[in-house]
Amino acid sequence: MLPGINPTTTKAWKELEAYYAQFKDTQMKDLFAKDGERFNKYSLRFEDILLDYSKNRIDEKVMSLLFQLADECGLKSAIDSVFAGDKINVTEDRAVLHTALRNRSNTPVMVDGKDVMPAVNAVLDQMKAFSEKVISGEWKGYSGKAITDIVNIGIGGSDLGPLMVTEALKPYKKNVNLHFVSNVDGTHIAEALKVVNPETTLFIIASKTFTTQETMTNANSAKSWFLEAAKDEKAVAKHFVALSTNAEAVSAFGIDTANMFEFWNWVGGRYSLWSAIGLSIACGIGFDNFRELLEGAHAMDNHFKTESFESNLPVILAMIGIWYNNFYGAETEAILPYDQYMHRFSAYFQQGNMESNGKYVDRNGEQVNYQTGPILWGEPGTNGQHAFYQLIHQGTKLIPCDFMATAKSHNPLSDHHPKLLANFFAQTEAMMVGKTEEQVTAELKAAGKSDEEIKALLPYKIFLGNIPTNSILMKELNPRTLGALIAMYEHKIFVQGIIWNIYSFDQWGVELGKQLANAILPELQSDDEVTSHDASTNGLVNAYKEMKK
Ligand code: F6P
Repeated sequence: MLPGINPTTTKAWKELEAYYAQFKDTQMKDLFAKDGERFNKYSLRFEDILLDYSKNRIDEKVMSLLFQLADECGLKSAIDSVFAGDKINVTEDRAVLHTALRNRSNTPVMVDGKDVMPAVNAVLDQMKAFSEKVISGEWKGYSGKAITDIVNIGIGGSDLGPLMVTEALKPYKKNVNLHFVSNVDGTHIAEALKVVNPETTLFIIASKTFTTQETMTNANSAKSWFLEAAKDEKAVAKHFVALSTNAEAVSAFGIDTANMFEFWNWVGGRYSLWSAIGLSIACGIGFDNFRELLEGAHAMDNHFKTESFESNLPVILAMIGIWYNNFYGAETEAILPYDQYMHRFSAYFQQGNMESNGKYVDRNGEQVNYQTGPILWGEPGTNGQHAFYQLIHQGTKLIPCDFMATAKSHNPLSDHHPKLLANFFAQTEAMMVGKTEEQVTAELKAAGKSDEEIKALLPYKIFLGNIPTNSILMKELNPRTLGALIAMYEHKIFVQGIIWNIYSFDQWGVELGKQLANAILPELQSDDEVTSHDASTNGLVNAYKEMKK
């Protein structure tokens, strides 16, 4: 079982606090000036991924105390526990085994005394057979035509993972077009249905629980739309498949369980793209590429499980994140992919991080007296540069950033890629070195400004710099590398949850809003004035009823 150690009571934490007091104003550029080996010391390669973490406010002592903190918080045994299938998701009494879904070594993984690998492999075989039939055109719709479009209906982990991956791996796309519908806002499904043909469309209803309001509402609307054209309930079997843990609800919805791809309660929603939830990935880019994605993730799992903390990518990223979150007081972290195909990567890890580590109760049931998960956000570069980078460079908040890019582009048009990469390198350099008063003065002088003009402009043109960044440079964005990258960030979340002494694999915080929405829905459907809530909620609901007339 997981330890229940308040990290602030450890020796390492106290030493980190003491060291922080003297180290906090250290300038990274001075650390680089002093140590010609800094890049070599603080960068690591994993297959085709290079992680450069040298542009961080760290030195040997910081790193060694952070690793000591990980030791004192029982990280090693926690890593062993999760891979062993222990029920570390205590509040839901479940194991956490997304790693088993990509366990390409096929070693036994035991849950409740039973090896789960035969079932995992059976579903993978089912996904392979199905996706190959869809891609080859062998799977026919009710009028005998092949499938041209897939609409994945799901939300949260049942949407973001497949969406992010199929966007990131678009160069590997086969002949079927993918559409993703998640929002309960009718606009989402309505717009998707405008561009597809019922005769050639397959709906994948992706929901672990098969009870999620948004997904069931969208699935029912899709079914009605489909039946209006097909006019035959029997045709549903050719156009609707389900990805779920809940066979009973799947059958009640009207999907034959022969068309159900199963997964298990030890797969968390936000960690489920490796499971049957990845069916749209397999149909979109082909099963072989889906398997490569699993292979890449498995390689990262092995790295995470076996490497010492000092050379373990997820552990390093996690512990540096803790340094900023808990000692420097950074409230947010940005993920900034310099790759248009990765445009949903930050959104994906926004759920991954914030649903996992947005917790204020520790593993002993006590409220924490320290910060837990940061706010995670980001957009692709270079777009972000023309939007929010101003605040990163010259705002009042410390925002550690992860930059990522690939050496090779899938679209090597003229000089687009060198320009993209020039921006990628320039930003982390600028964030670190900033611009001094002397440099600004010299520039303004060279531009012919008078002393008076220089004096007036100077403060606005200075960049303090010392903004920490990690750079992740990949050879190219392919299924294997993407799998490894996703797994690296998943494990980072796990490590941080262990140190913060919280449960990273439940999500009770999502429940309250759901419950209240269920209570309000019937009130919206009646004509009576609503008085059951606080004055603001009553006022808003009654105004809505008036306005919609
Ligand atoms: O937002 C809560 C949540 O349970 C997520 O964890 C999950 O990914 C999403 O809802 C969808 O759940 P389901 O797959 O059961 O429809």
